This record gives sequence, C-alpha cells and structure tokens, in this order.
Amino acid sequence: MNRTWWKETVVYQVYWRSFFDSDGDGYGDLEGVIQKLDYIQDLGAGVIWLNPCYESPDVDNGYDISDYYSVMEKAGDMNTLERLIRETHRRGMKLMMDVVLNHTSDQHPWFIDARSSKQSKYRDYYIWRDKPNNWRSYFTPSAWEFDEATEQYYFHSFAVQQPDLNWDNPELRQEMYRMLRFWLDKGVDGFRLDAIALLAKQENFPDSDEPENLSYLTNNPKLHDYLREMNEEVFSKYDIFTVGEAGFTTPEQGLLYVDERRRELNTIFHFQVLDEMPTWDLRRFQTIQTNWYETLKGRGWNSQFLNNHDHTRLVTRYGDDTRYRAESAKAFATMIHTLPGVPYIYQGEEIGMTGVRFDSIDDYHDVAMKNKYYEEVGKGHDPKDVFESLVKLSRDNSRTPMQWSSALNAGFSTGTPWIKVNPNYTSVNVEEDLKRPDSIYRYYQALIRLRKQYGVIVYGDFATIPYSDADVYVYTRRLGTERILVIVNFSLYEKRLAPIAEIALDKAQLLIGNYPEVAQPDTFRPFEARVYHLA
Ligand code: NOJ
Repeated sequence: MNRTWWKETVVYQVYWRSFFDSDGDGYGDLEGVIQKLDYIQDLGAGVIWLNPCYESPDVDNGYDISDYYSVMEKAGDMNTLERLIRETHRRGMKLMMDVVLNHTSDQHPWFIDARSSKQSKYRDYYIWRDKPNNWRSYFTPSAWEFDEATEQYYFHSFAVQQPDLNWDNPELRQEMYRMLRFWLDKGVDGFRLDAIALLAKQENFPDSDEPENLSYLTNNPKLHDYLREMNEEVFSKYDIFTVGEAGFTTPEQGLLYVDERRRELNTIFHFQVLDEMPTWDLRRFQTIQTNWYETLKGRGWNSQFLNNHDHTRLVTRYGDDTRYRAESAKAFATMIHTLPGVPYIYQGEEIGMTGVRFDSIDDYHDVAMKNKYYEEVGKGHDPKDVFESLVKLSRDNSRTPMQWSSALNAGFSTGTPWIKVNPNYTSVNVEEDLKRPDSIYRYYQALIRLRKQYGVIVYGDFATIPYSDADVYVYTRRLGTERILVIVNFSLYEKRLAPIAEIALDKAQLLIGNYPEVAQPDTFRPFEARVYHLA
C-alpha cells in the first residue's frame, strides 16, 4: 500500500479540559496544551487529537456544539487556538480537530430557530416526526423528544440537548463542508469525526425488535454517499488525516469507510474490542485483530487503541493496576505499537494512569452515567446497586486530571479542578515516572523510536503464530526480508515458553522488552513483552 505520513505516525489524544490548567479556573485549557507541547513532542507523537473545544453549553463536555466557528471560553479563544496550531507545527507535529457532524447543541442558533416554527428556514436541518418509534438513544430511554411549541418530536441519538442533524438536506451538508474547510484553511491537519457511523438514518424509522441494541443507529443506507461527497468536496483538496468514530461496525462494513479506492476516510475507530470485551480476553482479541487485518489487507488502514475519553484506563480494565501496573502498561503498549494500524495514546496512558472510584454519584460528571443512574433508580432499583454497576465503566474513569506531579491537584491546576483528581496522584504522576529507571513514558518513547526506525513495524505483513497458551500472544510482521517477532505474556504468572515455530530466541536480536534483563529467553515473567528482530 502507498506510504504516507499518517500511516507512520503515532497520535496523542489531548482531552484538554483535564490536561493542564494554565489560569487556575479548574479547567484545562488550550494555553495549558501549548505549555505542555514539549512533553508531547518528547514522547515522539506526530499528531495531536484535540477533543472538541468549540462554543458549547457543555452538557456532554463539548460534544454539544453551539457554534462551530468559535472557541469555548473555558478552553481559551481563537487566538490561542491559532497559536496552538502554529506551536504544534513549529515542533514538527500536526493537529487534528475533533468535529461533531451528527448533531449540534440544542442551543445552536439553527436549532433555536428550527424549533420556533415549522416554517423555520432551519426546520429541515433537524429530524421531526409526529410520532416517536421505540428506539433508545445512547443516553436516554427514547431517541425522541417532544417539542411543545410545534408539537412534534425531534430525534436525538445522544442527550436530549443534542438534536441530530438531517444529512439528507443538501444545504445542511454544504454548511458542514464550509465549516470543515474553514478549519483546514486555518491549518489543522485533519479530523477525528465524531459518531460518523450515525450520519444516515433508517428510512421511516421502523420500530426495532430489540430496542436495547442500538446498532439501528449506525451504518444506514446513504452514509457512504455522504462520506464520498464530503471527501470530494473537502478532504481530497488537502493533505490531511481523517479518522471516523464508527461504533457497531464489522470488518466488512469498516472496509467501506477505509478502502482507499472508495475515497471516503483514511481510518476509523471500530469498537469491537472496547464494546465486546469488558475484561481482557486474548483469544477474542486475536480473532478481532485477525479479522480486521485480513479484511482490510492491501485496501485500507486500521487504528490501534485500548482506551480514550469514553473508555476506562487500559491498565485498570485489561491489565493490572496494582503490583504489575508498569509491566502491564508496557505490555499493552508494546502490542498497540507493533500491531498493524495507527497507534493512539490517550493522555496519561504513557505514565500508566489508572481508573478511579469516587464515593458518590455526585462526584461524577459523565452525562451518560448520570442519566443511566437516574433512569434505573427511577425504575425502583436500589441506588447502591445501580451505582456499583456503573462505576467501573463510567467515562469519568479516564477523564480525571492529568497527573503531572505530587503537588496540589496533581500539578494540574492551582484552582479547584472541575472533576476530582485520582487520589493515587501522589505516587502515579509524570515526575515520579520520569525518576524511575523503568519509566513507562520512556518505554513509550523507545517504542515510538522503533516504529520510526523499522518500516516493517508500520508496513509489514502481519501473521499470528498459533500458540497453545491462551495468555500468550505471538505474532510477526514481515516486509521483504525483514521480520520482527512480538511475544507478550498477558498474565500475572511466569510462563515457560515451548519452542515457537523453530525460532531460536537466544539468537534473535532483542529490540525492546519491558523487563530490565532477559536471563532466560524462553521464560516470560508476568506481563513480559519483547520485540525481536529476525532478519
Ligand atoms: C462520541 C464521543 O467520543 C463522546 O464523548 C460523545 O459523548 C458522543 N460521541 C456524542 O457526541
């Protein structure tokens, strides 16, 4: 496949409101991102994905946009954003904006006007019906909200305050393309396209036999017409990188987005791992990887990630966040950075930040969690049980402030942080990590350097080596005569490996490993990961 800069890069995701607060108001901000750019650059990341910072009432932390052309006050202002773009470029990195095309805020002037009258010029920018169907939304029991003024229901895939846009309307589509061009002309280098699989709706909204399974919201006819048009009108005119968020997407459906010949998106995030694997299951993971690899092979590119601002921290969910925190963080990193696809690092992952547990629902902010909590309690379920059932996967697990040091508020803010800091910040923080000889941050640096040095890690063919132990992942990447071998023990126990496909580990060149020395090449300690060069 063609070589391009974005296939070779590593993306670092900045959830700015929890990254670094430069002015003491308790919210991270764009100036704070600028002040920490060297930290991101030193890590080796090539692209920053910036979560939405547009004007917004902030019901869903910026994913409810009320003005696509301005910056929300908490984040800063347009000048600071322009400076952030320049400063990012000055360091040889690129900046990807997160853009929400599926819905706006109910405070967007279009929606305010649209709901004022059936004759509004913007009425058809949204979706109105006389009767709701039985669909749920991601955040509420019904995807429809009755609007008193005009006595119709409007459609919302997420919160009531996030009305879905009507992509069938060509004027709306042109408005969106104009907006995308506005940002590209400012110099941004691409987009993370929020909820992109939801743009097209099912004709006539038929009732579902299984309303709890929200897959009816995604991958509907016409979606790819919109994406092709968007590409033709916007993306194809710039040298940029796009990644679409595509929940409920199978490899076959995924190929439709990323097949290079189809000219739609460069990559997507599919959620087969995060949505289908609440706990670690290597066999399942292997199957998902292999299916995606085989389906996209030679035609489209994949993404690799195990957490983000919606999915709890990987060491807590899939690794071990106590005794083997550092080893498991590095084991997963080794895998993410050597599997085929663009690797993503979610802020704090590079120091092994963990999930959190607050005592009360009042300490949580996540609209998805809170709505669900009140919905279930409203049905008469025991509040304690409901709380327990939601804590583990609450999106706030990964939204706590970045832990820079053991100073007040983890060095994140001199004010009161908008969300509580994870109490383990006194030991888990950037300063502490960098003091350690086995620093996780430095291990990420080394992995990223390897990717730059060995084209085989980016472009090589991928093959799993079948191995009998259900906790050990063994695979190779091959490009021409060059071959690397990756072995990861995803268990809390030491494993003595049987010979693997006649490879003599003691003769292979060890490129990186997450334990200081390898005394016995065939013995893998808990969460031990190694990458060998076999050329
Ligand atoms: C996906 C975003 O990542 C999430 O944070 C948001 O709540 C929904 N889309 C709605 O925009």
